[in-house]
Amino acid sequence: MLSTPGLPAVEGDAMQLEQVFLNLCLNARDAVEGLRERSPRIDVVADLVADRAGQADFVRVTITDNGTGMSEVVSERIFDPFYTTKEPGQGTGLGLSIVHGVTQQHGGRVECESQQGEGTTMTVYLPVSSATLTPVTHDPASDPTGDEKILVIEDEPMVRDVVGRILERRGCSVSMAVNGVEGLESIADLGDTLDLVLLDLSMPVMSGEDVLEQLSVTRPELPVVVFTGYVDLRHRSGQVAALLPKPVRPSELLRTIRQALGQR
Ligand SMILES: Nc1ncnc2c1ncn2[C@@H]1O[C@H](COP(=O)(O)OP(=O)(O)O)[C@@H](O)[C@H]1O
Ligand SMILES: [Mg+2]
Repeated sequence: MLSTPGLPAVEGDAMQLEQVFLNLCLNARDAVEGLRERSPRIDVVADLVADRAGQADFVRVTITDNGTGMSEVVSERIFDPFYTTKEPGQGTGLGLSIVHGVTQQHGGRVECESQQGEGTTMTVYLPVSSATLTPVTHDPASDPTGDEKILVIEDEPMVRDVVGRILERRGCSVSMAVNGVEGLESIADLGDTLDLVLLDLSMPVMSGEDVLEQLSVTRPELPVVVFTGYVDLRHRSGQVAALLPKPVRPSELLRTIRQALGQR
């Protein structure tokens, strides 16, 4: 199991997976080495995504470099064993064939996007461990369909980003607030156009509980889905349509929102 704060675990052989990311990082380093035109840059980002049907969740890791990039001819062969464009002694041509094999064995995949002279993004998808998943019977037809307006009140940028992208991909219109004070302002601005609030409980400036207390007076009909690590909510009122544990999985997020909207 490999776990990162804010992301669910993936299951697999730790040494093989380490090899995967090491190979990708070494290639990125080779690609930026000797770069003159611009300062070398390698970015590694991990986040959580759902497959198109919203049925399975994957941890996605992207390794992006602004190095040499590759031609289409090269990019078509990079996963072949022993294919290398490097000098003898510098490359074995085995790195990416190992990456390809290991990700497949783990139920995932690897993708390459490259622009010659500009850089490369390698993307690894690994399925979220079923050991940490509660089985969810998922009906894609019941996902939010598009006209919903949802406000996310959350102080962690990473969570805001992931949740925002999941909802936008489903066609929801998403607004963001970074704390309770901003959240209440947005709720007032959005008025009746707002369908649902996703609320984090532990935030600086004004806690989620205080937001709930105010809303119970000003907008008691507005459904709120609460992100929380614990279930003992002081203000468990009719306002709170559902609780969502963190880290949230895309399929569970969408299902919970659908249910909360359906309760109206
Ligand atoms: N980030 C990258 N930028 C540019 N080219 C890359 C990158 N990653 C892989 N390649 C190309 O793919 C080829 C195969 O990579 P790999 O299988 O790791 O073997 P090796 O690194 O030993 O050459 C490399 O020789 C190189 O041409
Ligand atoms: Mg390599």
